[in-house]
Amino acid sequence: MKSRITKAIFPVAGLGTRFLPATKAIPKEIMTLVDRPLIQYAIDEARAAGIKEFIFVTSRGKSALEDYFDIAPELETSLRQSGKHELLETLKSTNMESGAIAYIRQHKALGLGHAVWCARRLVGNEPFAVMLPDDVIAGDKPCLQQMVEAHAETGGCMVAAMEVPASRTSAYGILDSQDIGGRVVKVQGMVEKPAPGTAPSNLAVIGRYILTPKILRNLGQIDSGAGGELQLTDAIARELTEGRDVFGYRFEGQRFDCGSKAGFLQATVAFGLARPDLGAELSQYLSDVMSARRAAE
Ligand code: G1P
Repeated sequence: MKSRITKAIFPVAGLGTRFLPATKAIPKEIMTLVDRPLIQYAIDEARAAGIKEFIFVTSRGKSALEDYFDIAPELETSLRQSGKHELLETLKSTNMESGAIAYIRQHKALGLGHAVWCARRLVGNEPFAVMLPDDVIAGDKPCLQQMVEAHAETGGCMVAAMEVPASRTSAYGILDSQDIGGRVVKVQGMVEKPAPGTAPSNLAVIGRYILTPKILRNLGQIDSGAGGELQLTDAIARELTEGRDVFGYRFEGQRFDCGSKAGFLQATVAFGLARPDLGAELSQYLSDVMSARRAAE
């Protein structure tokens, strides 16, 4: 039942239309939260969870993402020569081991399930993680690490889970589940983007998954679902109909939906406030702004 999770798939093929015009020239995943690209947060979380192989499912127009993960020898030399050692360390901390990253192209936008299926030959026959970089999760222990530890006890498939307001359930995969102690719930059913008023609960799937290779087989067999797209949720739900275990994990931490502008701004503020070099100044600014607004009301 216990097996180490060393591979993670990062579906990054989306067009990022919600962030136009910025995404006309840069991939959404390169947009910065304070001073690090969105994707770096997911990579750091994956590394903390023991991931060694990073599989990016990309699309046209994402070459800046590949460049970002390349080394920057000229920049490193220049920082070294000018004695900027801290910056040099920051830069080097983003370097990836040669051969650790693979890029696969999703040629058509056929959905999250299809993106994951595109990586099937790189995953092979072992459990793997899927991380959606739009979901940024701040917490003392990184979310995927929490899940890897819980999964070592449960096996099966596991999805990150969080309560959302009833008015938002139609934007998520939603779980029908039973508490079995601690943060783990046993999933009995799951549905992708249920129509308003039809959700089995308020417990939503958040973009962290630990999946068995059977999911890749399922993805090759199921039909397209919600929105006419091949849905990862449906491939996981098939495990339930075939009698295999799926768990939800109520992670500890704060999740930001960086796929939306409001979520991105909230994450920017939260991460800015948490930074030792910026927090005090930003906090002062925010309270000044709020006082001025209140005074004007
Ligand atoms: C995807 C999944 C959905 C999940 C969500 C979490 O949806 O399909 O099940 O709840 O991520 O962020 P998307 O946001 O890509 O539409």
